[in-house]
Amino acid sequence: MAKIIDGKQIAQEIKDELKEKIKELKSSGCVPGLTVVIVGEDPASQIYVRMKTKASQELGINSETIALPAGTSQTRLLELVDKLNNDDSVHGMLVQLPLPDQIDEDVIINSISPEKDVDGFHPLNRGRLVAAEDTFVPCTPLGIQEMLIRSNFDPNGKHVVIVGRSKIVGMPLAIMLAQKKAGANATVTLCHTGTKDISHFTKQADILVAAVGRPEVIKGDMLKEGAVVIDVGVNRVNAPEMEKGYRIVGDVEFESASKRAAAISPVPGGVGPMTIAMLLSNTVKAASNFCASSSTG
Ligand code: GUN
Repeated sequence: MAKIIDGKQIAQEIKDELKEKIKELKSSGCVPGLTVVIVGEDPASQIYVRMKTKASQELGINSETIALPAGTSQTRLLELVDKLNNDDSVHGMLVQLPLPDQIDEDVIINSISPEKDVDGFHPLNRGRLVAAEDTFVPCTPLGIQEMLIRSNFDPNGKHVVIVGRSKIVGMPLAIMLAQKKAGANATVTLCHTGTKDISHFTKQADILVAAVGRPEVIKGDMLKEGAVVIDVGVNRVNAPEMEKGYRIVGDVEFESASKRAAAISPVPGGVGPMTIAMLLSNTVKAASNFCASSSTG
């Protein structure tokens, strides 16, 4: 049976390290601030936002959630982002996606100050990532890389196969892991809806990352014996036997995959907690950048 890669425990280690950094920042008069904006009442988004705000408060980050009604106009949201861009107590901000149809996500993301873009979604930060410059890296890919390194599955020299090319996970992860850097330097294959025979590639993976967004599509027989499997999926499936009427499964069929893999990240308790830990890490980075520049300038 595969070893379980305990994202919750690794995330806790990271949070403990961040607590120390936050203490140091506070002792020099710098209180990290994070504002999370949510528009509308999408239940999954509400849960994610609550987890982000709670985790940041636990670490002593000055954290605020701003919830706007589903009918909020793009102009109103742009005004709010502008206000937060100009608020020196807010070092990091994010607007939870997806946004309602009347709002163009790209317009909003482009309006966030790149120095406060702790999601790493602004085109300037995406460009810096491609150029291998220091930047805010999107939290989920950063969490996956950190989880691999900290569980002694360094991607260096390995064949990493990523299934899913989203702007938030698959594409930035492919770019990061292919770079000639510590904790990267992998041979990367990026599979997507245009890939003819996905299992032809997944069977060659030393490390397989499933970021498809569909329940249990990666089965055990699609893996190489001894592969390391990272499951990014969070999918609700009907389960009348459960009190809530549904259960959460990943993009990987855990039962068959865990028989074949050397190690596997579970859902929940795998990538999810790592994403949040990296958001906190990016917030601390934004605060220390800001406080360092304001004390010298
Ligand atoms: N929606 C799903 N994942 C994310 C994320 O990482 N950041 C934001 N802002 N919205 C999301």
